[in-house]
Amino acid sequence: MTPATCWRRPPSNVVTEPTSTTTWIGTSWKMTKTLAEARAYARVLAGVGWAPRVQPFVIPPATAIATVAEVLPPDGAVLVGAQDAHWEDEGAWTGEVSVPQVKDAGARLLEIGHSERRAHFAETDERVNLKVHAALRHGLLPLVCVGETAQQRAAGAALDTVTAQVTAALAGVPATPQVLLAYEPVWAIGEHGTPATPEQVGDVVAAIASVAGPARPVLYGGSVSLDNARGLLDLPGVAGLFVGRAAWDVEGFLALADVAAQPAPQAPGGPYS
Ligand code: PGA
Repeated sequence: MTPATCWRRPPSNVVTEPTSTTTWIGTSWKMTKTLAEARAYARVLAGVGWAPRVQPFVIPPATAIATVAEVLPPDGAVLVGAQDAHWEDEGAWTGEVSVPQVKDAGARLLEIGHSERRAHFAETDERVNLKVHAALRHGLLPLVCVGETAQQRAAGAALDTVTAQVTAALAGVPATPQVLLAYEPVWAIGEHGTPATPEQVGDVVAAIASVAGPARPVLYGGSVSLDNARGLLDLPGVAGLFVGRAAWDVEGFLALADVAAQPAPQAPGGPYS
C-alpha cells in the first residue's frame, strides 16, 4: 500500500482546533534546501490528501517560507512554520526576523527554543518565553522544544531540567491558547544522536504534561525514523513526531505521515481487556 492509496482525501483539512486524536507530523529543514528544492518538496505535499487524524507541518529556513507558503497556502492542510523569530515586532536587530515578518511570509507556526539555538545562539528560557508570547500575540502556533543534555540525564536531572524549561516557556501564558511542546533530548538529535527509549520518552512526556496541562500536545523529536516511529507514536501522551533528517526528502516525510495515519494497534485482547 502506498501513502497515496491509504490516506488520500481532498486537501481541505485545516486543523485550527486540534483534538486529542490529532497526530502531528512535522519536519524542520534546518539550514538545508534551495528555493527550487523547497518548492519541489512543497508541491508534492500540496498534492496529498491527508488523513483526518494527521496534522502535517513543515518548517523551512526563513529564506524559503514565502516560497513554500505560495504552494501550501494558509487555508491549506499543511501548516508552514518558521524555525525562529525575534520577540520584538520590529526594530534595529540586524540579522533577525520578527514574528509579523514570518507571518507575512506565510508562517502559521513558530518553532521556539530548539536545542541547536539554545546551544549555539544563546537562546535562554527567558527569550523562549518572550517568543511564545510574541507568537501568541500575532496568532501563530508556538512549538516549544525542550530537552535535557546527556550530562543532565546522567546526573539524574532529566525531568527537572525539562519541566523547568516548560514552566519557564509558559510563564504568563493562560491555559487556553494552543501551544505545542516537543520533547527533544539533546543527545538524541542529529547525526550522532541515539533515539530515546520508549521508557525515557514516556517518563518525560508525562512530566511535561504535568506542568503544561493535559490539553497541550507533546511531540517527540530526536533520531525519529521509520523503524521507531510506530513505537513512539503508540506511547501514551505522545501526540506526534517532530522529525529532522528522516523527513528531509519528501518520500521520507510521506512514509512517516503514513505511519501516523494508521490507528494504534489494539493491545492483545482488545480495547476492553
Ligand atoms: P533529527 O533532528 O531527526 O535529525 O535527529 C530532530 C530535531 O532536531 O528536531
